[in-house]
Amino acid sequence: MHTEAIDWADEGAVSLLDQTLLPGETVFLKIDTIEQMVEAIQALRVRGAPLIGVAAAMGLAAAAHRAFRNGELRGPQSPRDWLSHASATLADARPTAVNLRWAVERAVRAAVGAMGDASESAAAETMITALKDEAQRIWDEDAAMCRAIGEAGAERIPAKAKVLTHCNTGMLATGGIGTAFGVIRVAHEQGKGIEVLACEARPLRQGTRLTAWELQRAEIPSRVIVDSAAATAMAQGRVDLVIVGADRIAANGDVANKIGTYGLALLAKAHDLPFYVAAPRSTIDRSVASGKEIPIEERPASEIETAAGISAYNPAFDVTPAELITGIVTDAGVLEPPYEHAIRGILK
Ligand code: MRU
Repeated sequence: MHTEAIDWADEGAVSLLDQTLLPGETVFLKIDTIEQMVEAIQALRVRGAPLIGVAAAMGLAAAAHRAFRNGELRGPQSPRDWLSHASATLADARPTAVNLRWAVERAVRAAVGAMGDASESAAAETMITALKDEAQRIWDEDAAMCRAIGEAGAERIPAKAKVLTHCNTGMLATGGIGTAFGVIRVAHEQGKGIEVLACEARPLRQGTRLTAWELQRAEIPSRVIVDSAAATAMAQGRVDLVIVGADRIAANGDVANKIGTYGLALLAKAHDLPFYVAAPRSTIDRSVASGKEIPIEERPASEIETAAGISAYNPAFDVTPAELITGIVTDAGVLEPPYEHAIRGILK
């Protein structure tokens, strides 16, 4: 199953569900320039690590189509120069989720390879086709990886489990059924009779706005809690295990994910509960040795409701050390500690 959050639109453009308006309004935006896609990613109209990778690859293809096939490019730019500038701009749109850079670099490699040493006029057509094909492959593969994650992870979910999750990791965050949400969905489909507690995810409330909406549509028994209720829910025996997604996983298994994840991992340890992370292989970045090297996005103070003139510190992500993680559920199976070795095994 593919996500409903994105699709190809007419004339090679991309149709994007504006997630900032959910759950109240379902509005699709037509995107066909790099500037529009960067704005959509930065404003979190499209969000979630795997989905911003898919969106960026599709956006690059759509923008190339508009720039060259429709002849709207201003200034004398060759297809190769255009690609180099457009891809760098897209890859820099958000810093933490490695899937964004991974997908853009993969699309560029495909286009450069296809263009070879073709003349400029022939190269433009070749580039557009190669970018579209590669974006579709990235999307299809992500959908398949989500299903594989769901199936591998569901084996770790006991019958009647009370599962706590954070932020949004479903089809609104991926190309398919989701990562942590994919595990929850598959366990539910298997008739395990699970119940979900979804954390709010302050300040932008991806949990209460997006995960709750997905849980309701999938008819999975669930309740939302404010982030600060997680400790009490655990102490009262309302949680059997925690499962979350990831924006980047370092070579040693440290995980960057939505702010609040680290706190949940500490709470899970204090209450002796399993703490799982679910992510596709495209979220693993072996070029960073540990979580200390992962760039953490800071977002504007305006996202936190304060009186005028009050300053704020608003990191969007935190890093959970590998030693707090019971298992990392990937499309290649569930990794057990020590993660450094396990990660090397699935990425070689
Ligand atoms: O800022 P967001 O909404 O893009 O953050 C999303 C998350 O932190 C998700 O947990 C993560 O991307 C995993 S999504 C499958």
